[in-house]
Amino acid sequence: MAVFEYETVLSVRHWTDTLFSFTTTRSPHFRFENGHFVTLGLEIDGRPLMRAYSVVSSKYQETLEFLSIKVENGPLTSRLKHIKAGDQILLSRKPTGSLLISDLYEGRNLFLFATGTGLAPFMSIVRDPDTYQKFEKVILVHGVRKVAELAYRDYLEKELPHDDFLGELVQSQFLYYPTVTREEFLHRGRITDLLESGRLCEDLGIDAISAKHDRAMICGSVAMLEDMRYLLDSQGFSISPGVGQMGDYVIERSFTEK
Ligand code: A2P
Repeated sequence: MAVFEYETVLSVRHWTDTLFSFTTTRSPHFRFENGHFVTLGLEIDGRPLMRAYSVVSSKYQETLEFLSIKVENGPLTSRLKHIKAGDQILLSRKPTGSLLISDLYEGRNLFLFATGTGLAPFMSIVRDPDTYQKFEKVILVHGVRKVAELAYRDYLEKELPHDDFLGELVQSQFLYYPTVTREEFLHRGRITDLLESGRLCEDLGIDAISAKHDRAMICGSVAMLEDMRYLLDSQGFSISPGVGQMGDYVIERSFTEK
């Protein structure tokens, strides 16, 4: 059986000079959990060139969606950024990953902390009705350098609350907190600083985060993960030791091409 399958690109959206997203067809055999990542890529000189990407779309959707940075001279993304509707990409058959709500203990609020393309897996998780069944509030915190990098902001603010299926749950349980570090914006500063100072929960009008009641998922750069882990650990949160094992929080590095 082939390790990779071909999927056809359906649409491409360029958010900034360095950020784009695209949708593809989805083979009926391709199953994944919300929060999973998969390797995808292009055939170059007859060989597959693959990188890991979290799935943006939810497992209930008929198409697949991915969010990518464009790395200058990046072997894959410098080519992938030119894809257009009708092109083919390669997709591995084995989705995997540790950002699973099933590995989190029961809790009150679920915090989803993302920087940059670390948002991708949470787009899937905030569109999963199970997320709203398990937690009272679902708080998506997205930190970027510039306002234009707040991918899916319009969707999260304007469309998701009116979704036919999820709208009611979203309106009563979902909170979105975008924050920007290098431009003027409604919310400013790094996620870590906003959390540590208490500003984040204050702005949202919710109780301060606590290991006793709350759970978290984190997806960002290596440095961001390290700083976030330090913060949560010092507040008594326990990390899930691995897939299938319970914890107060789970983490995944956002995948970026070097
Ligand atoms: P900053 O502008 O202060 O570096 P990047 O594109 O480098 O991954 O950054 C995305 C966002 O994550 C930026 O707002 C950046 O802030 C922030 N960031 C970078 N490193 C950390 C960290 N260690 N902890 C929290 N946020 C971080």
